[in-house]
Amino acid sequence: MGALFDMFGRVKPLDAILATAEKKSLHRSLGPVQLTLLGVGAIIGTGIFVLTSAAAQKAGPGMLWSFVIAGFVCAVAALCYSELASMVPVSGSAYTYSYAVVGELLAWMVGWALILEYAVAASAVSVGWSGYFMGLVKSWTGFELPVALQAGPIWTLNGFLPVADFSAGVINLPAIVVALLVTWLLMVGTKESARVNAVLVAIKVVALTLFIALSLPAFKGEHFAPFAPNGWGSSGMGIVGAASSIFFAYVGFDAVSTAAEETKNPQRNVPIGLIGSLAICTVFYLLVATGAIGAIGAQPTAPGVDAGSAEFTAQCAALLAKGSEPLVCSKEALAHVLRSINYSWAGDLVGLAANLALPSVILMMMFGQTRIFFVMARDGLLPEKLATVHPKWKTPYIVTMVTGVFVAIAAALLPVGKLADISNSGTLFAFLMVAIAVMLLRLRDPHRARPFRAPMLWVVGPVAATGCIILFWFLPYDAKMVLPIWGLIGLVFYAAYGYRKSHVGRGLVEVHEEDADIPPQPVPPMPGASLD
Ligand code: ALA
Repeated sequence: MGALFDMFGRVKPLDAILATAEKKSLHRSLGPVQLTLLGVGAIIGTGIFVLTSAAAQKAGPGMLWSFVIAGFVCAVAALCYSELASMVPVSGSAYTYSYAVVGELLAWMVGWALILEYAVAASAVSVGWSGYFMGLVKSWTGFELPVALQAGPIWTLNGFLPVADFSAGVINLPAIVVALLVTWLLMVGTKESARVNAVLVAIKVVALTLFIALSLPAFKGEHFAPFAPNGWGSSGMGIVGAASSIFFAYVGFDAVSTAAEETKNPQRNVPIGLIGSLAICTVFYLLVATGAIGAIGAQPTAPGVDAGSAEFTAQCAALLAKGSEPLVCSKEALAHVLRSINYSWAGDLVGLAANLALPSVILMMMFGQTRIFFVMARDGLLPEKLATVHPKWKTPYIVTMVTGVFVAIAAALLPVGKLADISNSGTLFAFLMVAIAVMLLRLRDPHRARPFRAPMLWVVGPVAATGCIILFWFLPYDAKMVLPIWGLIGLVFYAAYGYRKSHVGRGLVEVHEEDADIPPQPVPPMPGASLD
């Protein structure tokens, strides 16, 4: 019992964390437009380009509501995130905030859940990229990889045991290649500058605008009936079930809140950047979803069958054999819609845009992951060897390599929808902890300076927490089960290692004067955040 109190009582003093942050003295250079661009760059990715088809399978045309619900939960969570990010502007995001507010054990659990958010999201985007890559290669050259190398197996749960069915794929080769390529870029210290970020944002926005401009004129009202074939929802199904999955399309906005310390007038600009980028993406997503459904219909294979299940794969294979490929079966949803309405050239262009822009989302997610591992290792909760910085590349190469291998293995073996759902389970847990932490801190430490205060926190905080719990609840059963199982593994690790080695536990509360900024930024503090 004493040990339990000890773990909850192990709180990293906020002042020590802030002392570290003060040494960083990052230049406040970002204005509202740059922040918004940063957010849009981090947000738009596999979610809209690929998972639109899974959402259509789950919710039918009702997925329009799914986009609104997921966007709303992200907006309220974003306000909570920004308050903490502006108060505790140091690396480690939700993990660091939790360490200061709710203690070491929960901080460890949040850091552990963030592995799901970042690393698994990187895997999901790698698989999303793979679908577009193979689609483009096929469209341009007619070449197709053997089926075994195009996708991972289909997994089903037999009780608690996962069972693989290799009939529709064995490993996803292109996803492995892109994940390892990005790992290598991060290891050798590749920078993504604000300029590159701006170009990639432009490519994504132009591609989505082209999609909207060509698909909306093909709009047919009858494609919207029945509007909600699976109703409002149950676990992994219906409008709210699709919202839990399509939540993935909005993840990444935390990039804006973690750039708070480099923002001019954060009180005004951080909420503009956050809400601005979320609002822009929501409008784009709604228009894209309306265009896709209006042009060719949602075309669920059968009511109540989940995208990614063995049954669904069999239904898609049967339809494909008959020469018909509905939206829900496509691995490159947006390109597929355009090709279906006889704009093959535009389908190829959108495919090219996805091929060019998605690797930067992988890079951001992997970078986020290495940074969190790094901070956890620096706190003694993970082996410090992981945080070793390469003498020449100046990057935390060991942790980057470990992350990259993990990301590549998950990308090789799991379908994009499952990966996104698993990533969402970790992200929702982290967002929930952030919403709780921000409220606790208001109560415990009301007079501390808050460069940004979430408006109406006593409404926004509980709504954010409840929204996260509801979305988690509506995730498919297997994705939901990953969080407690992953959490248990995390607890075993903590008991075996972190509990004994923790610096806070050993009374070492250090201020990192020299290396506050470590790891040397392979990308600017947040990708695209510094203007060079
Ligand atoms: N929101 C990001 C994406 O959709 C993670 O790829």
